[in-house]
Amino acid sequence: MTCLVDNFQRRINYLRISVTDHCDLRCIYCTAHQVPRLSHDDILRYEEIERIVRAGAQMGITSLRLTGGEPLMRPHLEVLVGMLKNIDGIDDISMTTNATVLARHAENLAAAGLDRVNISLDSLNAEKFHYMTGRGKLSTVLEGIEAARKAGLNPVKINTVLLKGINDSEILDFAAKTVTDGWHVRFIEYMPFACDGSQGSTFAHNQTVSDAEIKDIIAGNMGELTPVMPSKGYGPAKYYQLENATGTIGFIGAVTDCFCSKCNRMRLTADGRLRPCLLDDEEIDIKTPMRRGMSDEELRKLMSQAADIKHEKHRLGEHVLPAARQMWQIGG
Ligand code: GTP
Ligand code: 5AD
Ligand code: SF4
Repeated sequence: MTCLVDNFQRRINYLRISVTDHCDLRCIYCTAHQVPRLSHDDILRYEEIERIVRAGAQMGITSLRLTGGEPLMRPHLEVLVGMLKNIDGIDDISMTTNATVLARHAENLAAAGLDRVNISLDSLNAEKFHYMTGRGKLSTVLEGIEAARKAGLNPVKINTVLLKGINDSEILDFAAKTVTDGWHVRFIEYMPFACDGSQGSTFAHNQTVSDAEIKDIIAGNMGELTPVMPSKGYGPAKYYQLENATGTIGFIGAVTDCFCSKCNRMRLTADGRLRPCLLDDEEIDIKTPMRRGMSDEELRKLMSQAADIKHEKHRLGEHVLPAARQMWQIGG
């Protein structure tokens, strides 16, 4: 097997697959002006995604994550999960979702072979949640979390992006959930994009709350954070635990604690491009040649090329921001 290894000796074994650019929420930091959504024809069909994953699995991809937009906006996602589950070499299929409709899909997804979910949730206060998501109802997400847990989509991880002055007052509330409800909460540093919610002037790029600030607040109020091994996961989070907690607190310090040297991933966009780095605009179109009849060998070659153009690290520190796509068009 020829493995996917980039020019910095990083082995790529994790593929994040954006299945749609549609999302039912309008989170203040994620959504700038809506660009027209992709048309039905632009979006990869399930059979095409399956073929790409099969090729990836032959090159060492073992872990898949379905993302969006909001992945559950794509009809019959469980059908895709079932198709991917049958591919030799794939041993973990997860999904990152806003959970607004997860309650009604969790069981079917688990039955089809979805292993686990990560759920985006930025506020535990119903009014603030509605404000931050533009339209969301907190209770539907809480129902989604419970349904995921019951369906065995474990570990359920909660992704929280903090913005100064908006939801950073809730750090301790989220941390407390790791003690009272066994939640696995991850704080993600907000990553600026050239075109994102800051365009609407509700907040500015300098409202990122750093991991160090969050850790200080938690340790100062709730006691020591002990480093722990991650519950199942292939991503960049570093995990800690409070005394008496069954859940964990993870930190994804994308801006202040760059983890690029350990990067193990590649992304597939809903319109069929391989994007080697979240924060770099370079991509390789694989949909067009596939639809023109490319062989599996050529497909694997394009995947290797994508690994070859993967940059060593992001350049947010030098204010080089991704500009060609917004976050919701990549899926995080
Ligand atoms: P597991 O660890 O396998 O559970 O997944 P994950 O943390 O990789 O997946 P998830 O979609 O929950 O990622 C959480 C957030 O971390 C994403 O939304 C991104 O904002 C950020 N993130 C994930 N992967 C990368 C990456 O490769 N680079 C950067 N800069 N940020 C990432
Ligand atoms: N920076 C960091 N995280 C972000 N997310 C969306 N936009 C950003 C950003 N600019 C998070 C969402 C979700 C995941 C897919 O990405 O909150 O948890
Ligand atoms: Fe990997 Fe790019 Fe994320 Fe760095 S910013 S961890 S290189 S995807």
